Amino acid sequence: MLVLQKESMFLLGSILILLHTGHGQECIKIIKDMDYSCAGRKLTHIPSSLPITVRTLDFSFNFLNPLDNSVFPLLVNLQVLDLTRCHIHYIDDDTFYNVKNLTTLILSGNPVTHFGSGCFNSLHNLQRLVLVDVGLDSLQLPLNNLTKLQELKVGTNSIQFMTLPSFISTFKNFTLLDLHANNISIIKTDHTVVLREIGRNMTLILSRNPLLHIEPGAFKNIYLKELHIQAAFVSLNAQKGCLQALTGLTVDKLFIGNYRMVMRMKVSNADYLDGLCSFNFNEVYFVQKEWYDSEMHVFRCMVNATKITVKRGYIKSMEYIPFHRLKELYLGPTLLSVIPFISKIPSLEKLMVNNKLPMTFHGISDLPLLRHVDLSGNTLILMGCCSSFFIGTPNIRYLNLSRNSEIGLDTMPFFGLYLLEVLDFHHTKLFLTFHYGIFKGLKNLYYLDISYTSVTFTSYMTFQDLSNLTVLKMAGNYFSRDTLCSLLQNLTSLEVLDISHCGIDEISMISFKGMQKLQHLYLSQNMLMVLDFLVQPDLKQLTSVYVDKNSITSISPNVLQNLPINLSVFDLSSNPIDCSCSQIDFILWIIENQKFLKEPDNIICKTFSPSSDLRATDFDIDSCVHNKRLTVGLVICLLIVVFVISLIVYRFQFHLRYCCILLSGYRSARQQECSYDAFVIFSSYDEVWVMTELVENLENSFPPIQLCLHMRDFEAGKSIAANIIEEGIMGSRKVIVVVSQHFIDSTWCRFEFEMAQSWFIMERNANIIIIILEDVQEKKMKKVIGLHKHLKKNTYLKWSRDPLSSMRFWIRLRKAIIATK
Ligand SMILES: *[C@@H]1O[C@H](CO)[C@@H](O)[C@H](O)[C@H]1NC(C)=O
Ligand SMILES: *[C@@H]1O[C@H](CO)[C@@H](O)[C@H](O)[C@H]1NC(C)=O
Ligand SMILES: *[C@@H]1O[C@H](CO)[C@@H](O)[C@H](O)[C@H]1NC(C)=O
Ligand SMILES: *[C@@H]1O[C@H](CO)[C@@H](O)[C@H](O)[C@H]1NC(C)=O
Ligand SMILES: *[C@@H]1O[C@H](CO)[C@@H](O)[C@H](O)[C@H]1NC(C)=O
Ligand SMILES: *[C@@H]1O[C@H](CO)[C@@H](O)[C@H](O)[C@H]1NC(C)=O
Ligand SMILES: *[C@@H]1O[C@H](CO)[C@@H](O)[C@H](O)[C@H]1NC(C)=O
Ligand SMILES: *[C@@H]1O[C@H](CO)[C@@H](O)[C@H](O)[C@H]1NC(C)=O
Repeated sequence: MLVLQKESMFLLGSILILLHTGHGQECIKIIKDMDYSCAGRKLTHIPSSLPITVRTLDFSFNFLNPLDNSVFPLLVNLQVLDLTRCHIHYIDDDTFYNVKNLTTLILSGNPVTHFGSGCFNSLHNLQRLVLVDVGLDSLQLPLNNLTKLQELKVGTNSIQFMTLPSFISTFKNFTLLDLHANNISIIKTDHTVVLREIGRNMTLILSRNPLLHIEPGAFKNIYLKELHIQAAFVSLNAQKGCLQALTGLTVDKLFIGNYRMVMRMKVSNADYLDGLCSFNFNEVYFVQKEWYDSEMHVFRCMVNATKITVKRGYIKSMEYIPFHRLKELYLGPTLLSVIPFISKIPSLEKLMVNNKLPMTFHGISDLPLLRHVDLSGNTLILMGCCSSFFIGTPNIRYLNLSRNSEIGLDTMPFFGLYLLEVLDFHHTKLFLTFHYGIFKGLKNLYYLDISYTSVTFTSYMTFQDLSNLTVLKMAGNYFSRDTLCSLLQNLTSLEVLDISHCGIDEISMISFKGMQKLQHLYLSQNMLMVLDFLVQPDLKQLTSVYVDKNSITSISPNVLQNLPINLSVFDLSSNPIDCSCSQIDFILWIIENQKFLKEPDNIICKTFSPSSDLRATDFDIDSCVHNKRLTVGLVICLLIVVFVISLIVYRFQFHLRYCCILLSGYRSARQQECSYDAFVIFSSYDEVWVMTELVENLENSFPPIQLCLHMRDFEAGKSIAANIIEEGIMGSRKVIVVVSQHFIDSTWCRFEFEMAQSWFIMERNANIIIIILEDVQEKKMKKVIGLHKHLKKNTYLKWSRDPLSSMRFWIRLRKAIIATK
């Protein structure tokens, strides 16, 4: 019973837990206990499961109408609350009582018809209030208590007058009023009273309003940090009048002109921007959509500016303006065909011209403070660069001529530009008259980019002097034979080196000598096969190596074991990795080091058909272990078989040889002329008898019978077996066997006899003549295969010393030898 109770309690508990967590899943935890998002969940209430510690809550795209003080649970730590598009119509008083520590409140996109007069009361800490697109028609909002307010964003409403409630002038931190895309057409002096009272560095955004008229002096004595008036006027005429009416205004950053997507429009007057002369500004950002048939006076009223940015424009030429405070000039895409001859601006520090269209450049001069020159992306063609184009500019430290067409470098191209620190020519075709000393004198240069400049490096002196060079990018160029070996020597400060895509097939150990600071080495898209240079002791500091898209099939164990210790990025992808069992150590290394290998999934085995992309990391090492065992087993078996065969061959070498001869030479042997009448098989113990009796009686009497005796007639150098068969048995018509006690005991004799026997059986010829030299026991006789049988079947000659029987013996023997059949 008790058990049952416990169980049901447990069940109830788990249901509760389930419900609880199910609740929490309505919102996504972004940072635990801090940052939650419930966006777009069709919620009608704030989930009570949110931890009290939550600081940021995105509750956009839900349903929360009406908004009153019962909506929010107590969330004292909540600072940022986003209620965008929650269908809120009604905001009651004290709504935010439970979330009173909010610093940011976003109510954009709600069709609010009622703001309770105390609706924001509790928000004493609010800094940002976003009321974009909430149907406002005036700025008279109940913000009284928001004394910490810094930003009020009320864009995309129907506000007609920029009159701020007077209490805002007491908000000490109020800095941003964003009124973009409202319905303000008129600004009068009494609309700007509060702004003037604030008197601080405010940002005022009035872009995309239909401004028609500004009362002259409405902005008198107002100081703005930023004024945005892009597309803020109903017409160009209105713009002219309104700008003129801004007299007495001082602005730090002025944003004028149009938005990029606006169509270009023709102006009827070159001086259409003259209104800018009526007030003061330091920096101006300008997107020009107006064009005119002849020269426009765009810069005339910018003479006092410190920074001019023309992001886009239709100017075809730049008039001469005696700028005297200008520090930065940026010209984006315009209709300029020539980079303006900018000279004698004593204050100019930075010049950037990045047109998308082809331009020409005749140089700039007398700019003593100029440090930064960016003329990239102008399709320039410059010959005899660079000193002659930069005259009286000794301070240039940054020169960017990348993404141009062609640049020819003179001898001593950087003469007088010895403070250069950054030099960028990438993707510009370079012509080098001399390689020797082109960068001479650039002792401060630390960044050099000459990637894709179509240079073939032939001199190893090219980078002489660049002892401070830290970054060298020279991808997409070429090296003549062996130049790479010494080209980069002495670049002892180098930390980043990019020689990707240079057709390099080999790098010698000494190429990177002395680069003790090198950290990042890019060698992608070459034809490298071996990486032995990585063990060069000077490369200890390397942390990343990119050798992707090369021809590497494997890396030797020596290199793998001696890689720089701090190496943490190693890109080996897109190489034809040899995934065979012979490379098992390398593959294993790949599998174990996936963490520091870049794109391990792109390390593909080449051994397999190109259509099937087997990743090296998926290679089945076990199959190799299996194969290895199988191979070892097979090899052992083979060795055993070979050993056994050798043994057999050794044991039966004569028989085998004889077999061979039988199989191959038997037929031809018939035709062969026999060189001997008889081959004598005898034991060497019986040699005396053979020499004194046999030879004497057969060879030395008439007609002489030619005998073949092994000690006399066998060819030297030939094996005994071969001699027995070829000289003895095959070379003689008959075989005389001298049987004695010794004969029976000799293995050689027995072998010879067996051979002879089988040979003559093949020949079907009873050509074996047996001489019994001495009596041998029958039992012993049987030891010699066939002898006993032969004696029984055929007649034999028995030797006797008795002269009469001896004479008969010789006659019978002679007859037997001479007989043809
Ligand atoms: C400001 O807030 C306090 C309470 O925090 C409230 O008593 C007072 O009425 C508020 N002032 C206005 C003008 O709403
Ligand atoms: C903008 O203001 C004008 C009056 O200046 C008014 O006639 C017009 O209806 C307003 N437009 C909107 C969208 O509120
Ligand atoms: C505005 O800010 C600049 C620096 O940001 C400061 O020098 C200047 O005094 C400020 N002006 C006012 C009115 O606060
Ligand atoms: C530039 O500043 C000088 C005073 O430094 C002033 O006299 C002149 O009117 C200003 N020019 C323009 C176009 O603002
Ligand atoms: C040079 O200009 C190009 C193109 O504008 C830019 O991508 C590159 O980063 C610049 N080089 C340097 C060193 O800043
Ligand atoms: C190299 O650069 C450092 C600063 O980065 C500078 O102090 C040093 O003088 C330079 N070396 C040479 C030889 O100019
Ligand atoms: C490297 O420096 C040494 C001594 O400073 C010099 O003799 C040698 O020629 C230099 N090598 C290169 C390739 O510049
Ligand atoms: C490796 O990195 C550590 C810590 O970043 C550093 O202290 C050490 O000097 C480095 N070793 C080498 C050989 O560069």
